[in-house]
Amino acid sequence: MCGIFGYFGSRLAYPLLLNGLRRLEYRGYDSAGLSVLDGGVRTLKAVGKVKNLEALLDTCPLAGSVGIAHTRWATHGVPSTQNAHPHQDCSGKIAVVHNGIIDNYKALRTLLESQGHVFTSDTDTEVVAHLVEEFYEGELEEAVRKAMLELEGTYGLAVVHADEHKIVAARKGSPLVLGIGEGEYFLASDPTAIAEHTRNVIYLDDFNVLTLAEDGYRVTDLTKAPIDPKVEKITWEVEEIERGGFPYFMLKEIYEQPSRILDTCRGRMNPSAGEVYLGGLREVSDRLLKARRIVISSCGTSWHAGLVGEYLIESLAKIPVEVEYSTELVCKEPMLGPEDVFIAVSQSGETADTLAALRLASSRGALTLGIVNVVGSSIARQTDAGAYIHVGPEIGVASTKAFTGHLTAFVLLAVYLGRLRGSLEASQASQILTELAAIPAHIERILERNEDIREIARVYSRSSNFLYLGRGINFPIALEGALKLKEVSYIHAEGIPSAEMKHGPISLVDETMPVLFILSKGDGSTRVLGNMEEIRARKGRIVAIVPEGEERATAYADHLIRVPEVHELLSPFLSVIPLQLLAYHAAEIRGCDVDKPRNLAKAVTVQ
Ligand code: M6R
Repeated sequence: MCGIFGYFGSRLAYPLLLNGLRRLEYRGYDSAGLSVLDGGVRTLKAVGKVKNLEALLDTCPLAGSVGIAHTRWATHGVPSTQNAHPHQDCSGKIAVVHNGIIDNYKALRTLLESQGHVFTSDTDTEVVAHLVEEFYEGELEEAVRKAMLELEGTYGLAVVHADEHKIVAARKGSPLVLGIGEGEYFLASDPTAIAEHTRNVIYLDDFNVLTLAEDGYRVTDLTKAPIDPKVEKITWEVEEIERGGFPYFMLKEIYEQPSRILDTCRGRMNPSAGEVYLGGLREVSDRLLKARRIVISSCGTSWHAGLVGEYLIESLAKIPVEVEYSTELVCKEPMLGPEDVFIAVSQSGETADTLAALRLASSRGALTLGIVNVVGSSIARQTDAGAYIHVGPEIGVASTKAFTGHLTAFVLLAVYLGRLRGSLEASQASQILTELAAIPAHIERILERNEDIREIARVYSRSSNFLYLGRGINFPIALEGALKLKEVSYIHAEGIPSAEMKHGPISLVDETMPVLFILSKGDGSTRVLGNMEEIRARKGRIVAIVPEGEERATAYADHLIRVPEVHELLSPFLSVIPLQLLAYHAAEIRGCDVDKPRNLAKAVTVQ
């Protein structure tokens, strides 16, 4: 959730560190700080966004060509200068930045305090600085290794010492990437901060210790044994992490969806033959053929994608599916075994709750699959097999293109499983895939209605509450629309199955309560029209997303958003787009920081 950036080279470090932090700010923006080796360790920190740190550096620039930096999402201790990273030891010679959580920090702190260490923050991270100090005998790498043996929990760490021209980094459960430049190195928690400098990267593994020094980089394990890690290439372009003329990443990413859906499908389907090719699943096809049940596990928007996946897989592949919040699955004694398939759905591939659920499923012998965006992420690496969604870096904290990327992957997976297990005729598969291929063009048409949707957002932008109602495969879209709205605009919103409304939530309805309905051409639409009538009778205001040609809703709705009519199973692709735009515009009109909603961070790497 926090961001780490480090630089080792011959250029002035602080502008590079600041730039790295700006790239990583979407991972946490409660405070920011940096330390550079400049005749000693010089540290500057500021509460709030990276621009506050930048303002501080304008008045107090730092020399030095080696440094570490951090942008924080607070877990232990309020956002404050004292709690901002880097954290230092008593001598002030050591500085540490850390992502993750040190579970045993209280015990370590008590022990270190009893040995005379004086702490200045409320964070778990500060124990790392004092531990390294305690173990330091002239070799930073060795002291970090010894400290690692004492730490419980998760960490991505970068450490510097005033007496050594080095950065030492270590990883357990929190990602770290090394970027290899020409005579210089970049260290980051996320390759988006590295891509503009080099495309050659190494993803560190758990318990790797990385040392950057004058003679190059060295990766070792806890026993000091050298490791020869694979140098990989960043495959996406730097423009993908620029706003490209859009005021916010969220809007850019909404508009990217037509092309991104094509990217997810590329090379994976033959609509006329009704065939899907998922290379990542080839080796596990035997187990997929025999699977008794599928359990999908994820959080937030990815959980909503999983719910749509349930409809798709049950309809097309006829395999029973359960969808679990990762956060809840780990509280259960789940009935998972070798005949089950567990699917982790994640944009970042680093969500700690989903990783925990994945480990649980693995321990029960289930076949584990990942449907993930970030290449090389922890979930992608810890699952038995899987499929990337390939929607490119998603920077807006509110997930948009990853959602439709996940939906696309689920359509492909459901068709693949249906064909593999003989539950889907080639002609049916062909029909779905042909319609899927047309989805990007349909989304383009909805995007042309952006101004109309903005006007609807303006009308309701002062509302305090919103209800989102949907049915069947569009119920998850009601949930997703409500999440998007509350996440970025801070308007309270709830997603409810349309017909559940009369079982309780209808008591909330009066003339101040806007209610958004999602209609599709499926069997339920007549009943959903009945639900609209019930709201109308109670003076609720109605916004309705309806397929083109559906005229009955005009009698009830104050505002209609028409979307192209498609196969019912593909209707979520189209109903979600207006909801993303509605949330975006409501937030923007209300003056919210759309890409950095308060209290949130892009990847939630703590449980
Ligand atoms: O990276 P993941 O997909 O695993 O993240 C899961 C959720 O934290 C994420 O979808 C979150 O709900 C988004 N901010 C929603 O827009």
